[in-house]
Amino acid sequence: MTTLVNQQIVLASRPTGEATLDNFRLVESSVDPDALAEGQVLVRNHYLSLDPYMRGRMNEGKSYAQPQPLGEVMIGGTVGEVIASRNPRFAVGDRVVGMGGWQQYQLVEAHQREVLRKVDTTHVPLTAYLGAVGMPGVTAWVGLHTIVEPKAGETVVVSAASGAVGGVVGQLAKAKGCRAVGIAGGPEKCAFVTDELGFDACVDYKAHRDLKSLAQALKAACPDGIDGCFENVGGLVLDAVMLRMNAFGRIALCGMISGYDGQPIPMANPALILVSRLKLQGFIVSEHMPLWPAALGELGAMVAAGRLKYRESIAQGLASAPEAFLGLLKGRNFGKQLVKLT
Ligand SMILES: NC(=O)c1ccc[n+]([C@@H]2O[C@H](COP(=O)([O-])OP(=O)(O)OC[C@H]3O[C@@H](n4cnc5c(N)ncnc54)[C@H](OP(=O)(O)O)[C@@H]3O)[C@@H](O)[C@H]2O)c1
Repeated sequence: MTTLVNQQIVLASRPTGEATLDNFRLVESSVDPDALAEGQVLVRNHYLSLDPYMRGRMNEGKSYAQPQPLGEVMIGGTVGEVIASRNPRFAVGDRVVGMGGWQQYQLVEAHQREVLRKVDTTHVPLTAYLGAVGMPGVTAWVGLHTIVEPKAGETVVVSAASGAVGGVVGQLAKAKGCRAVGIAGGPEKCAFVTDELGFDACVDYKAHRDLKSLAQALKAACPDGIDGCFENVGGLVLDAVMLRMNAFGRIALCGMISGYDGQPIPMANPALILVSRLKLQGFIVSEHMPLWPAALGELGAMVAAGRLKYRESIAQGLASAPEAFLGLLKGRNFGKQLVKLT
């Protein structure tokens, strides 16, 4: 094999306010598949996953994750194929999932034992390992099972319901015998959530721009109130849900995407936590590694059996990644946002 050109996208600057295309830069490096050192593995990335957490990493300040260093390849989950290996654990042709970043090729060092995982694509499509059978699916599983803890007959609401995490949450809640209600932006996404994913109802928050109207729509969709909430958005959406929560309701605070670009997201009625005796708990999926094998096993079996549905938005080519990422932060994606790199 000849030396390969590796296109990469690095973080060029940190956003002030909204992230923009100028924050990213496309660069090239080279990689020689015939010059691997003992233990190294070279992967050709087929798909890159774009995820909301990347926005937090572009900022300077540390939140729960370290900031992305300037000038370095943007962090990101990838699936691909081993094209050269001097590591006995991986053979050429193996399909793998890893954290390959925003680039076409990933060189994995011998000591990086945990960064690559072989996957079986016989019954589960390769891209699903970045979505329903990957980090987003496990996020849904962990938040639902450890915080919301839904019981049959209860009502569970999830925001960003057509997305990678939200779509799985509602289907898992349905499988537990709950009433699953989504909140999503626009009639097309809401129709997908009910008609394709099988939720019982979906509220279009874009048709209800103020708290009173949104809470009213939720009341109609949740006639017995809300017992569990899986929150991905925050702000007005969370305020409306809290107004409809039943006593002793549980809220898994998974994300607050409506504030990721720096918008203020105050909570309108924090006293409801007391008055309705709510449990509101945040969580980070990477801090629940012991649960991943069970979650991935269950999610993989459901996808293979056609009992867990999902949708993907696929941008073409590495150069399209920044635009697609900014779109994700504005809800332009419809389902799991991926970038096809091959
Ligand atoms: N805690 C964890 O460990 C963890 C792990 C993974 C993900 N998450 C969080 O889970 C949430 C969903 O992630 P995902 O990967 O599944 O993404 P996603 O839902 O596939 O895509 C993001 C969706 O968020 C909605 N959105 C974007 N901007 C919004 C805004 N300003 N106001 C309201 N909604 C907005 C859009 O849907 P609409 O068009 O319907 O508004 C968009 O499609 C995010 O908050 C993410 O940070 C947390």
